[in-house]
Amino acid sequence: MRTSGLDGVVAAETVLSHVDGEAGRLILRGHELRELVRGGATFEQAAALLWQDFAVEGGDAARILAGLGAARLRAHELVATLLDACGPELGPVEGLRVGLGLLADAEAMPHHLLVCGALPVFAAALLRRAEGLAPLRPDPALGTAADFLRLLRGAPAPASEVRALDAYLVTIADHGMNASTFAARVVASTRAGLISAALAGLCALKGPLHGGAPGPVLDMLDAIGDAARIAPWLAAEIAAGRRLMGFGHRIYRVRDPRADVLKEVVASLRGASNRIAFAEEVERAALALLAERQPGRRLDTNVEFYTALLLEALAIPRAAFTAIFAIGRAAGWCAHILEQERGGRIIRPLSAYVGPEPGPRHAA
Ligand code: ACO
Repeated sequence: MRTSGLDGVVAAETVLSHVDGEAGRLILRGHELRELVRGGATFEQAAALLWQDFAVEGGDAARILAGLGAARLRAHELVATLLDACGPELGPVEGLRVGLGLLADAEAMPHHLLVCGALPVFAAALLRRAEGLAPLRPDPALGTAADFLRLLRGAPAPASEVRALDAYLVTIADHGMNASTFAARVVASTRAGLISAALAGLCALKGPLHGGAPGPVLDMLDAIGDAARIAPWLAAEIAAGRRLMGFGHRIYRVRDPRADVLKEVVASLRGASNRIAFAEEVERAALALLAERQPGRRLDTNVEFYTALLLEALAIPRAAFTAIFAIGRAAGWCAHILEQERGGRIIRPLSAYVGPEPGPRHAA
């Protein structure tokens, strides 16, 4: 076993989600992800599943919708302070980092609702500010997906786009012991509190090897440009020792099931089909190249590849992709934090010391 990435180490028992990397399945609390998304599950319904038995309103999507609406209004009260604190040099995720830092441990509102309500409000305000626009007041009667798109655009989104964003938020709501969830559970295990633990999750998500990849996927498609350049462009990337964004996964040895779920959703959006055809050509060429260069590794398409196309089809700026990922994944972080707080011991592994032993040093 390689110790550097904790491959194969079981860090917690969970009832929340199961990633079957050999079969390419993702199960959320006894439900196949594919079925949940095809059945039109909303973000609030996914949160209800994940929070059941861990939060008083868990299991009740209507109560969660109301609770998140109230949380968005509370977060709106902090938006002016957030915008004052964030200079234009901060990107959207860095802004969210500041925003979660503004939430007090003494807040009376349940912290899982507060965190999940605050992220879309803060993200929309930061993104609007980058366009020179003032923040808008949340509508507590709407679901998270509909209100986020409204807060971002200043006008209600069509139902098809709300459904597509809901499908995305459900798809990425939880995914076993991924790096950000692990980071959140480590902090939760010290009893530092849900807000601090969720902030740890956000910081881990930000990296390009985890939740920071979809923007670079679009950069890659743009850089390739047209079909004739696909093969030479990809080969040059690999030859330069760079990774192809949107491919490879620690657990999946087959195609990430979330990629297909999202591809179906993108295909349902009008005007998105041309880019899909090109992306599919890139995908085919990338998989062939990776199979040739890494024959023992079984690298396949991951969730970020079609995330990029979906969020682009929703006209969300690519700099915001990781922030939108955080809005969905926050439901999973909160569930894991509550599960960890309920019974887990402090997470405190060992390290293998490979440094020098104490003793006299001899000058060369
Ligand atoms: N392109 C090219 N080569 C790759 C890729 C890739 N996308 N992914 C893995 N490899 C290669 C590595 O270079 C490595 O080769 P080496 O052993 O010769 O150094 C080998 O395959 C194994 O790579 P590992 O880093 O051990 O794979 P690991 O399981 O640790 O990493 C990861 C998984 C981080 C997702 C990796 O595949 C990657 O960097 N992918 C690109 C970034 C990306 O798409 N991130 C989003 C992941 S999905 C998510 O987190 C939501």
